This record gives sequence, C-alpha cells and structure tokens, in this order.
Amino acid sequence: MTAPLSYLSGSASKSADLLQAMAWGFSAVAALVVSVIVGLLWIAIARGRRRAADGDPAALEQGEHGLALIWWGVALSLPVLVALAVWTMAAARTLAEPGRAQSITISVTAHRWWWETLTSDGHGPPFAGANEIVIPTGRPVALLLASADVIHDFWVPKLGPKMDMVPGRTNRTWLEARDPGVYRGQCAEFCGFQHARMAFTVRALPADDYARWSAGQRAEPPAAAAAPAAALFTARCGACHTVRGTGAGGIMGPDLTHFAGRSTIAAGLLPNSPDALERWIADPQSLKPGAEMPQVPLTAADRQLLVGYLETLQ
Ligand code: CUA
Repeated sequence: MTAPLSYLSGSASKSADLLQAMAWGFSAVAALVVSVIVGLLWIAIARGRRRAADGDPAALEQGEHGLALIWWGVALSLPVLVALAVWTMAAARTLAEPGRAQSITISVTAHRWWWETLTSDGHGPPFAGANEIVIPTGRPVALLLASADVIHDFWVPKLGPKMDMVPGRTNRTWLEARDPGVYRGQCAEFCGFQHARMAFTVRALPADDYARWSAGQRAEPPAAAAAPAAALFTARCGACHTVRGTGAGGIMGPDLTHFAGRSTIAAGLLPNSPDALERWIADPQSLKPGAEMPQVPLTAADRQLLVGYLETLQ
C-alpha cells in the first residue's frame, strides 16, 4: 500500500507536524540526559580509581559534596521536566480541537476486521463506505469513532494522533490533510487474529475532486449494467452486503455500492483487482482466517460473473 506507516517522516498535517516535532524533541532530550549521566559516571569512576591507585583510604566512599550534587541534579532536571510537561499539555490542546468549524462529519465504526464509514457533508443524505476515508484537503473533518465489537484504535500516522474505538461509546476527533494524497491507516489496538490485517486508507482530494467524488458516492450505480449478475449477487451475497438500488440490502458486511472505486479488498489485504477479488470470493478463510466473510459455494462461472459485476460498481 501507500506511504510507510511511520509518523517520523513525511507528515501531511499540522497535527502530524506537532507529533513529529515532539517525538524528535523528546528523543533528543532523553539522549542528552543519558549522555550527561554516562559522562558523569565515567568521570566519577575514573577519579575513584585514580585515588585508589594513589592509596587514598577514602577512595570508595562518598565525597563530601554528595548532598550538594543531588541538589544540583534536582535543580537541573526540574526545569527540563516542567518544560516537557508544558509542551505536552499545549500539544494535547492543539490536537484536541482544530479551532475551525467542521462541515463534514465521518462516522467510522470498527468491526473485526474492517472499517465501516458513513459520510455526512451537508450536500445530501449521508452515504456509506468501507475501508477508505475520503476527505477534501485543507480543512478539518470531524470524525466520530465507534466500535461494533471489541476495542480498536484509529491511527493515520501521517495525519495525526491515535484514538481508541471503544464499544458502547463514541469518541470524537478530527482529521485534516494539507496535501492531496493517499495516507495509510491501521488499527493500532490488538483486536484479534487479523488485527494486523485491519488497514484502511485516507484519500485526500482537492475540493473540486472531493465534490465530484461525493456526488458520485450518493448516486446509485446504473441498474441496467448486468441484470443476471446483479440478481446472482442479491441471491448469494445480499444477505450480508448492500448495493443500493438493488435487492441486496445486508448490513453484516461492507456496503459495496461503489466497490470498484476502492483501492483494496478486505481492509487493505489485497489490491482491488479482478484476480484478487476472485481469489477472495473463492476462499476468504484461507486469506483472512476468522473473518466474517464465509466461503460461499459458487461455480467458477458464477464467481466470474460476480467479479465482473462488482468491478462495474464505480
Ligand atoms: Cu482492530 Cu486491531
């Protein structure tokens, strides 16, 4: 998938800049403290050895400056610790609120092991999606994070901090991307066997492209496209999946109304290509053991028909 999963380089938002600066800043302070302590220890050992070699009987005892040195240590470290604490609190405040209104709200519900999204942007009814969050660049988007089962954690390292998704409550946070691009997200709280395969992407688009994309998401896919395939999909997959405008209205699995527009299958597991999709439909349990997607008995011809149909759902 896209950019490496690290917040130490290539940040794409003000929040991520702040986190990056703190990570390097705290590491630098910690490295400095360790160097000073190791240096002092080394000097003390060298001195003690020299005195012992000179036959000084007090060589291994604490010097007369012992207590004064402790006070020096406290006096030097206290301002550093206070400065780091103030920095942390100021950063937490900045990360908590963007300070600007958010006209787009995306509800994200974590499932074992995929991400359900519902986008409300005020231009029409909310629309559902899965495993891909699309936002316009340069403005904050509100996020409402929930979980359908166990504790998960929402994390897009290039864009901001982590936030837990806890069953029975909704956590509020926000997301903003400075530049257009695709940013990888990942569940960051162990949630079962396929925790590592619970990825998603955030796609940031310029405002015009975003408006076009969201209008497309609201629309239903053209119904006439493939009537026999659509009927097959409704019969075999429609108990769990929805394709708006058809008989398929299941809510157990991801809404597939605009499946073909997504870049991956099964929460980042496979690229969204016809080959990969056929492999996934044929044997989901060997690709992602424990996932809720069952192996539905299908002939090769039916599988082909379904793959062709799904790839038309732009
Ligand atoms: Cu969901 Cu880890």
